[in-house]
Amino acid sequence: LSRGLASSASSFAPIKHVTVVGGGLMGSGIAQVAAQSGHEVVLVDVNEKVLEKSKAAIQKNLSRVAKKQFKDDAAKGDEFVNKSLNNIKLSTDLPSTVKNGTDLVVEAIVEKIEVKHKLFSSIDDVAPQHTIFATNTSSLSVTEIASVTKRKDRFGGLHFFNPVPVMKLLEVIRTKDTSDDTYTTLMAWGKAVGKTAITCKDTPGFVVNRLLVPQLAEAIRMMERGDASFQDIDIAMKLGAGHPMGPFELADYVGHDTTNSIIEGWHQKYPDNPLFEPVKALQKLVKEGKLGVKAGEGFYNYK
Ligand code: CAA
Ligand code: NAD
Repeated sequence: LSRGLASSASSFAPIKHVTVVGGGLMGSGIAQVAAQSGHEVVLVDVNEKVLEKSKAAIQKNLSRVAKKQFKDDAAKGDEFVNKSLNNIKLSTDLPSTVKNGTDLVVEAIVEKIEVKHKLFSSIDDVAPQHTIFATNTSSLSVTEIASVTKRKDRFGGLHFFNPVPVMKLLEVIRTKDTSDDTYTTLMAWGKAVGKTAITCKDTPGFVVNRLLVPQLAEAIRMMERGDASFQDIDIAMKLGAGHPMGPFELADYVGHDTTNSIIEGWHQKYPDNPLFEPVKALQKLVKEGKLGVKAGEGFYNYK
């Protein structure tokens, strides 16, 4: 959509400047796809050390994209990597970054409501009027996250998937308060960063995680019952259902701390739903620090 297609009463304008908060797994991927598609990006995290790590990860993943997109022209590939990197600035000062003018803030920090509340409270008063706030939460209520701000109409969910540069889906979560302009702008931005955007209501897990997380849990329960080994369950779902990864490979990839806290959070809120029953093997892995690929060990060993 261009400005001209919006109705005259609408304040819809395309996003040019993006602030991504959290330079971890997801935030660095979100900053990358935004920069790749020509947006000015500021990536914010708690300290320089984390930010340098994020930048190194982005550079590595941009090179992977360049290798694929410009396989016959290394010079063009280098140009793509440098141009994209130049679109990204790093900062540890979120309020100043936002105050200086940004069209969209995408939050990708830890999955804890009180930490997300603190973050959005710290920028609501200093952000320009038109600035849209979005959260990449996997499992929390977008409405609850937005509740501490005075811009509930300019607030939505932008749920990306890991690895962000590769996965083509974006879930755009529309709360009851999200305005038409905000929703249209977020859908258009999703397209601008190269994703296929779908619309979801603000329900637990939106579409993908609401279906995927219970499936991962059910696979682990199947192993716990001794119906099949986890290796065989993975083979079965790859060869029998055409999934790119089996459920145990995928759970290791997502991280058991993430999956376990999603299930426990939903169980607390919806104790009667058997799909959200906590999973013993998952809790044990978290206790032992075997969080999956990122820890070098989960169901499988990566050391
Ligand atoms: N950045 C850029 N490129 C990347 C990348 C990254 N981080 N990771 C992988 N790639 C590229 C590789 O370079 C490779 O490119 P070529 O095809 O040109 O070789 C391509 O992606 C495939 O990678 P690999 O060959 O290394 O491995 P693969 O074929 O097994 O694919 C995968 C890897 C894309 C991760 C695939 O296994 C897959 O789709 N797995 C399922 C992932 C999934 O379900 N993600 C969602 C998790 S749930 C979630 O994210 C939501 C939540 O809230 C928890
Ligand atoms: P991560 O732990 O890799 O990264 C989080 C980053 O946020 C860290 O670098 C941390 O230093 C930074 N951070 C924490 N508090 C901050 C603050 N107050 N200000 C600035 N930076 C801060 O986590 P992740 O896996 O990238 O997840 C981030 C969010 O994305 C979570 O809400 C998660 O639920 C969601 N998510 C995760 C996945 C996944 O597969 N891991 C997929 C989709 C969505």
